[in-house]
Amino acid sequence: MAFSSQHGGNIIEAATMMGVDADLLIDFSANINPLGMPDSLKRAITDNLALAERYPDVEYRALHQALANHHQVPKEWVLAGNGETELIFNLVQQLAPRKALLLTPGFAEYRRALARVGCEITDFHLSEEQGWQPDESLLCALTPDLDCLFLCTPNNPTGLMFDKPLLLAIAHHCRENQIALIVDEAFLDFLPQESGLIPHLSSFTQLYVLRSLTKFFAIAGLRLGYLVSADTATVGCIRERTEPWTINAFAALAGEVILSDQTYIEASYRWLSTEQPRLFNGLNELHGIKVWPPRANYIFLRCDVAGLDLQRALLEENILIRHCANYPGLDASYYRVAIKSPTDNDKLLGALQRVLNYKDDAGE
Ligand SMILES: Cc1ncc(COP(=O)(O)O)c(C=O)c1O
Repeated sequence: MAFSSQHGGNIIEAATMMGVDADLLIDFSANINPLGMPDSLKRAITDNLALAERYPDVEYRALHQALANHHQVPKEWVLAGNGETELIFNLVQQLAPRKALLLTPGFAEYRRALARVGCEITDFHLSEEQGWQPDESLLCALTPDLDCLFLCTPNNPTGLMFDKPLLLAIAHHCRENQIALIVDEAFLDFLPQESGLIPHLSSFTQLYVLRSLTKFFAIAGLRLGYLVSADTATVGCIRERTEPWTINAFAALAGEVILSDQTYIEASYRWLSTEQPRLFNGLNELHGIKVWPPRANYIFLRCDVAGLDLQRALLEENILIRHCANYPGLDASYYRVAIKSPTDNDKLLGALQRVLNYKDDAGE
């Protein structure tokens, strides 16, 4: 039976398919910080339960101010959403591009948002031979007939960062050719040294940066993301046309609290600086597995063992990983795993050893 989920984190579907309790599965398919929701936020929520009884501020003034302060940009540049996903759809609806370029493999929701507005989509294929990284040829693909380009850095599922000079060259090119450049920085918070494109927004008014707080701060169920752009006309139009109160009061409170929780942020950096190389090296040593060096909190890999459905085999071990067969440009040999706690990462490595050795022993 195939496991068909379009996204990571669908443990209910996987558990139902396996006939096990979802709580038994260790979820490596969604890239969520294993430190869990910050204690500062747990306290803020329990201290403010009464917020559930009234409407949130329909303009989310305190939230937008907190986000603007965090990035040192004008408040008018910022628009929060019920997860970044809401903003991908609302931004595309507002820009209404007729022709867009997408990099493959990439996050599925760009394509769905563009398809919803009837946009014609051209794919720019990243190749394994080039290490899944774009080069200057991407600039040639940015023809003036395009209205929109989506980029994701670090990219999902490859976990690789765009080269900064190339990214800026693309931004210049898009500005000259009036192409809306949408840059998804959903995982950038995991890279303490990287500031991304927000500091460059004043130079590029057709540039839209999307951020998610659901991964780094482990609030995927609470949901919060935001858009930042110097194109205040577009940001303002989306603000006007979005349904009221799409962000619940606790998610709005989260945005006011978590960005200044330095204890949590530092602890997350410490965890990742240890577990990222450890899991990468552990995977790299496994026979039949090829891994790409990760920049964020997940690792992209290929399994070269013929006839082995790695996701299925690991599900037998109560471990759920993300298969990447449904990403355009990839096939069933590619997978993505989250970097989790030391204990869970050891369980993944142990289960992989068993699964791969079993295949070796079986002489397949
Ligand atoms: C690259 C990328 N962008 C955006 C999102 C959506 O984030 P959110 O949970 O904030 O809607 C995801 C979720 O997996 C993602 O992988």
